[in-house]
Amino acid sequence: MMLVDRLKRRFADALAVLLDPQADNRWLTEAGGAGMAGKVLSAADRDAFAGMVRPTADPRFGDYQSNCAMPIAKLCGKPPRQVAQAIIDVLDWEGLCHPPEIAGPGFINLRLRDDFLATVMAEMLGDDSLGVEPADEPRTILIDYSSPNVAKPMHVGHIRSTVIGDALARTFRYLGHRVITDNHLGDWGTQFGMVIYGFKHFGDEVALAAGPVDELSRLYRLVNRLIAYHAAVADHPGAVTATAAATEVVARAEAAVSAATDAKAKRSAEKELAAAVRKQAAARQRAEALQATVAAAQADPDFLRQAVAHPGIADAVLLETAKLHSHDPENRALWERFLPHCRDEIDRVYRRLDIRFDHTLGESFYHDRLGDVVQRLRDAGLATDSEGAVCVFLPEFDSPMIVQKKDGAYLYATTDLATLFYRREEFRPDEILYVVDSRQGEHFQKLFAAAARLGFQGLRLEHVQFGTVLGEDGRPFKTRSGTSVGLESLLDEAVAKALEIVCDPQRVARSDGGMDEAERQQVAHAVGHGAIKYADLAHHRTSDYRFELDKMVALEGNTSAYVQYAYARARGIMLKGGMAPEAIAASAQPPVLGVPAERSLALTLARFGESLQQVRADNAPNFLVDYLYDAAKAYAVFNDQCPVLKADSPEIAASRMVLVALTARVLETGLGLLGIRVVPRM
Ligand code: ARG
Repeated sequence: MMLVDRLKRRFADALAVLLDPQADNRWLTEAGGAGMAGKVLSAADRDAFAGMVRPTADPRFGDYQSNCAMPIAKLCGKPPRQVAQAIIDVLDWEGLCHPPEIAGPGFINLRLRDDFLATVMAEMLGDDSLGVEPADEPRTILIDYSSPNVAKPMHVGHIRSTVIGDALARTFRYLGHRVITDNHLGDWGTQFGMVIYGFKHFGDEVALAAGPVDELSRLYRLVNRLIAYHAAVADHPGAVTATAAATEVVARAEAAVSAATDAKAKRSAEKELAAAVRKQAAARQRAEALQATVAAAQADPDFLRQAVAHPGIADAVLLETAKLHSHDPENRALWERFLPHCRDEIDRVYRRLDIRFDHTLGESFYHDRLGDVVQRLRDAGLATDSEGAVCVFLPEFDSPMIVQKKDGAYLYATTDLATLFYRREEFRPDEILYVVDSRQGEHFQKLFAAAARLGFQGLRLEHVQFGTVLGEDGRPFKTRSGTSVGLESLLDEAVAKALEIVCDPQRVARSDGGMDEAERQQVAHAVGHGAIKYADLAHHRTSDYRFELDKMVALEGNTSAYVQYAYARARGIMLKGGMAPEAIAASAQPPVLGVPAERSLALTLARFGESLQQVRADNAPNFLVDYLYDAAKAYAVFNDQCPVLKADSPEIAASRMVLVALTARVLETGLGLLGIRVVPRM
């Protein structure tokens, strides 16, 4: 059992004695404990208190701490320190800890015994899953992630969903849950109307045969730009008027500030002025952006000619999409021709990144079920006709969820409802996690609200949202030309940078043997791809983060290379010592934790499973990243201070080898759960 769970178990046993009114020790529940009079705590309540065991923030106070005396004291109306003492009196800490200490208002501080910690090390090393037992109540968890809209080039934004979803899937499986992964591909949307229109009007058969993905993405970009140009031409005058109006508002607000007589009026006028200035800046920015789009087009005669020839392109694209959806044979055939190429392109990225899905049921899969969904909504009394469209009105939202447009077209929400029905039937999940950009928050809130009214209460639905990838300038990540950077070129760049590090002449000189080209490439791939994944996972998913390749691929700091390097060092020592990892595991005796660096490494290693529980509790892989960084740092200190092969005695050498081998296992397993590979030397 995981270390922290053993402590919790002991607390649970103690609280069962203490809080059980039937038991001998009734003092907590007797009349003196006013709050508890007549109350019997359920086992679940007791477990919640028992579960309040946490690592201490400061090692001076021990290794773990329980804060359960405070809420219990509140319940029974006794002083918390007295409650803490009562808990300690019945707590069986023998064998695990030194005598617990009470600190501050009633914290119970626990310092683990070194011999206990040493046993945990040997047990972990001898256990295939490093002491992490499969969940008591395994859940069936469906994870919807990656889900890019294909037929547009994949960019860095797609990385987050893919990498986070993959790490969650791997971690939850490790924890013993039944995980089903499903890539809800956007393979049926307007982007196909765009490439179909593009191909019909600007397509180049030869180019398509030679490089289908390049040709499709050229068509996508061209049509996109044409639509944007016409929209800019149409919107620019309005934006200029809006800027002028905003400027007038600013002038009035300025006048109001100067006219204000007392301090309070002045303050509120200034506030209004600030808001007006902000609005003015936004309006101006929009007008300028539209102007820039128009100007760029006018400087490009070829493009302009195409734009003039295709004035109604936006509507025409919608028409092509509608024809695809109504099974028009020509559009359907084009879609069937294009889709495999789109799939090939993303599959190539998935292969590079070691990403696999159990299912890839894209939006197109659900198309024939959408009419049914609308009917089900009608049957349930949830759908209302409103101005020709079919809507689901949800009292908690201002705007309805539209499930069918006036022209008969279905929407993203309709597909997601169909997907829900299908998944429930087909997979019977306990939970569905949607790993999707936080900007889709409202969509999912509405989806879940509708689902609750359709009888999905027993199924836990969660939007596992994440923030934006930013460039070094703090704005959404773009290249200078204004397009999102293609994902593959970024991966190439990361690998190239990693290769520089691996081939650094100083490092090469220091390492013995030297690597051949094949090994160097292998290392560069592991480090380069690892860097991108790790940097993404290192931030809590809800925060935005800056994409800074140099920092991401560095050997120093909280990077994958740092952790991978710690692993390689550990492997190097085992290799030099002539010990195969399996041999060390088989013969592992509890190590002697003689010096602080050994002990703190051991304590960190023992916490591996805790970090996985944290990932599960918050659907947030950054807890595992933080953990691995801590473990690599603890190992670096150990490495500096505790010679292994040159230890003072063979006993110390063998003892330290256990820690080295366990470090390697923990780092390899942990990185593996993040989808990151290790290499035996770097
Ligand atoms: N294809 C969508 C996009 O790129 C994401 C789909 C997420 N999953 C879902 N079931 N809605 O924005």
